[in-house]
Amino acid sequence: MQPVVLVTGASSGIGSALCKRLLREDAGVRLCLACRSMQKAAATKAVLLAAHPAAQVTLVRLDVSSLESVLRAASEIQRRFQRLDYLFLNAGIMPNTHISFKALISGLFSGKAVHMLSTAEGLITQEDCITADGLQAVFETNLFGHFILGLYSSVVCPGLVMTNLTYGILPSFFWKLLMPIMWIIRFFTKTYTLTPYNGAEAQVWLFKQKPESLDALMKYHSCTSPMGKNYVESRKVDVEEETAEIFYQKLLELEKHVLARLNAPLSPK
Ligand SMILES: NC(=O)c1ccc[n+]([C@@H]2O[C@H](COP(=O)([O-])OP(=O)(O)OC[C@H]3O[C@@H](n4cnc5c(N)ncnc54)[C@H](OP(=O)(O)O)[C@@H]3O)[C@@H](O)[C@H]2O)c1
Repeated sequence: MQPVVLVTGASSGIGSALCKRLLREDAGVRLCLACRSMQKAAATKAVLLAAHPAAQVTLVRLDVSSLESVLRAASEIQRRFQRLDYLFLNAGIMPNTHISFKALISGLFSGKAVHMLSTAEGLITQEDCITADGLQAVFETNLFGHFILGLYSSVVCPGLVMTNLTYGILPSFFWKLLMPIMWIIRFFTKTYTLTPYNGAEAQVWLFKQKPESLDALMKYHSCTSPMGKNYVESRKVDVEEETAEIFYQKLLELEKHVLARLNAPLSPK
């Protein structure tokens, strides 16, 4: 039986590049694209089938910023597939982002320039909004909508990748102007993966690992060398275990609360 692989947010950027790379690794996988826009999902499917005409690609409507949609999609997935072997929780947003040029200029002349450029720490601010479920949109989309599926997952970081997400921070022409500088920065930091193909390296690497060999306290980073070679680096997650445990308990409480409101059963943990 061929493995079933589900990718959330497969309609663009890293998710779509990941689907292409997974089919290249194993053209027999049964891919399920879980997207909020069926039109975009169908376009991605067409691109995948153009390269792999025999590929098995199905679509499921999933809006991770709506708990109702997540629960509906979960039961549809359960109904349609007898198994689920790999799940890539890739959908995410970074709404209304602003870059602080003041912080950029002062950071460039501080001792922390490389750290600032590789993590964007202190450089970017976002204006979040509230979803129909009454939760912060970034929290619900990037984390909680996936959490209530009742899953444990490995954490990956794709690095800095040019996608719709980064084009939301600065217009694409601006990024193109910055490209020569970013290639130079690659000599100092390996996290400038820049293309969705490179950014999907850690996910493709995870696809080939045995789950029992993975460490839940590690974050797997997609990295690209100055010469363009892709590799994966694991680093300890930068959170105290005690803080992580408190956060996890809060997530469980919130899950119980929202599922009771929606009259839905608790997912097994
Ligand atoms: N690009 C980077 O430098 C970078 C850095 C660190 C982490 N990441 C993470 O990488 C992941 C992929 O991002 P990307 O860079 O590939 O950006 P992207 O091109 O904007 O892709 C994001 C994907 O998530 C989907 N999505 C957004 N909100 C959703 C929702 N409510 N329900 C279902 N799908 C939703 C989008 O669907 P639509 O096509 O309908 O918008 C799109 O397919 C995200 O989790 C992001 O946080 C990216």
